[in-house]
Amino acid sequence: MESHCGLLFPTLYLSVLVVFVLRTCANKVDDEDYEDTVLNKTWVLAPRVHESDVTNILNDLLKGYDNKLRPDIGVRPTMIESDVYVNSIGPVDAINMEYTIDIFFAQSWYDSRLKFNGTMKVLLLNSNMVGKIWIPDTFFRNSRKSDAHWITTPNRLLRIGNDGRILYTLRLTINAECYLQLHDFPMDHHSCPLEFSSYGYPKNEIVYRWKKDPVEIAHQKHWRLYQFAFDGFRNTTDVMHTQSGDYVIMTIFFDLSRRMGYFTIQTYIPCSLTVVLSWVSFWINKDAVPARTSLGITTVLTMTTLSTISRKSLPKVSYITAMDLFVSVCFLFVFAALMEYGTLHYFVSNRNNSKKKKQKSKPSKSPVIKVRPGSTLIQVNNIAHLQERDDYGYECLDGKDCKSFFCCFEECRTGAWRQGQIHIRITKIDSYSRIFFPTAFGLFNLVYWIAYLYL
Ligand SMILES: *[C@@H]1O[C@H](CO)[C@@H](O)[C@H](O)[C@H]1NC(C)=O
Ligand SMILES: *[C@@H]1O[C@H](CO)[C@@H](O)[C@H](O)[C@H]1NC(C)=O
Ligand SMILES: *[C@@H]1O[C@H](CO)[C@@H](O)[C@H](O)[C@H]1NC(C)=O
Repeated sequence: MESHCGLLFPTLYLSVLVVFVLRTCANKVDDEDYEDTVLNKTWVLAPRVHESDVTNILNDLLKGYDNKLRPDIGVRPTMIESDVYVNSIGPVDAINMEYTIDIFFAQSWYDSRLKFNGTMKVLLLNSNMVGKIWIPDTFFRNSRKSDAHWITTPNRLLRIGNDGRILYTLRLTINAECYLQLHDFPMDHHSCPLEFSSYGYPKNEIVYRWKKDPVEIAHQKHWRLYQFAFDGFRNTTDVMHTQSGDYVIMTIFFDLSRRMGYFTIQTYIPCSLTVVLSWVSFWINKDAVPARTSLGITTVLTMTTLSTISRKSLPKVSYITAMDLFVSVCFLFVFAALMEYGTLHYFVSNRNNSKKKKQKSKPSKSPVIKVRPGSTLIQVNNIAHLQERDDYGYECLDGKDCKSFFCCFEECRTGAWRQGQIHIRITKIDSYSRIFFPTAFGLFNLVYWIAYLYL
């Protein structure tokens, strides 16, 4: 306070002095006499007529005015017209499902007790007058936290027209709830509401109405919406039935749609590239065990990391979002590529082992029969040999065909070992994969993007 006064008085004094010097430069007056004369003279310069007029008007208006009572009480509901000037929206907080909005909120109503006669049509007042007249008890129903602005004085405006029309605006920053449905994330659209109504006056006491242009939007250059684009707004009027009465509820929906850029860079491209990387394995020689396993495991680990990152900007919702779907499918592809090599390696190495064993067992002269004309010779082993090789389950006896791609082990023990068939298919699994994996992934992408972007 003191520092203010210290600043204010010398300045005031100086300007007053200048005025005085200009007007009475010829006079020689003592320093003590200055202040009274000077102050009188500066006051004379102000529009004295208006000031007293307005003071009188206000005093007259407030004489006998009861600011506890709404206008037209007991006669008809007070009609409050409202509109909103949106200064900025954002940021949207997906984790807490809320968004921040900065608005100038205007309400306008008639108070017949505040009609006045005078030369002025409208009295322009500030927050000092606000507490002295009745103002509606509007509140924002879906706000988590609201801030009125108080610096340097309360950011409020009050205008009283000579017909009793009152305009009251204030500046607010509101953190409002916006329940985000994230099933389509990150291709999601949201309608974030801003709801307000009277706190205590039901429908038969206070009625809200939208002004002609209910929402005005400021320039969006400095909005902090980041990953969202502002698509527009809708205004609605509803009546809510509660135990304490029926309230008129006004809602503005702000339509926001997510921009995908961030997630494309952070998740979609890395995931797709990791899947493509896992296919490199199909072109590496099947005997390069370290190369292929490390490639497979690295890609699986990368996908694990990416899937963790992809959920970081989301609340822990229990349903599957569009991004989860994509990441999971990528993970499956990478995992399948690793499994493909595992399968290939298992069958190829086992076959080699069994071949060696067969060669060793040849001197025992086990009977050899021809299964069918043109097919390879297959050894039919005696019981002793079969038991010895129990761990190679697919070594089968003659007389039963394996119809499936990979013989069921149980079936094979008692069935025929179609060596030729299995041999060809297992080694060709890489060639099949080179076609199958890219095609399947391409098809998945086609379906995925069409479904989420156009349906
Ligand atoms: C200046 O104001 C004082 C009181 O503040 C008053 O007594 C005096 O008459 C005024 N002088 C003039 C010229 O108005
Ligand atoms: C305003 O003036 C009119 C006529 O001059 C008068 O009838 C009315 O009562 C006045 N209203 C107020 C609030 O003084
Ligand atoms: C939105 O505001 C306009 C302008 O006052 C009004 O005409 C329209 O009926 C309002 N929409 C709804 C759904 O209340």
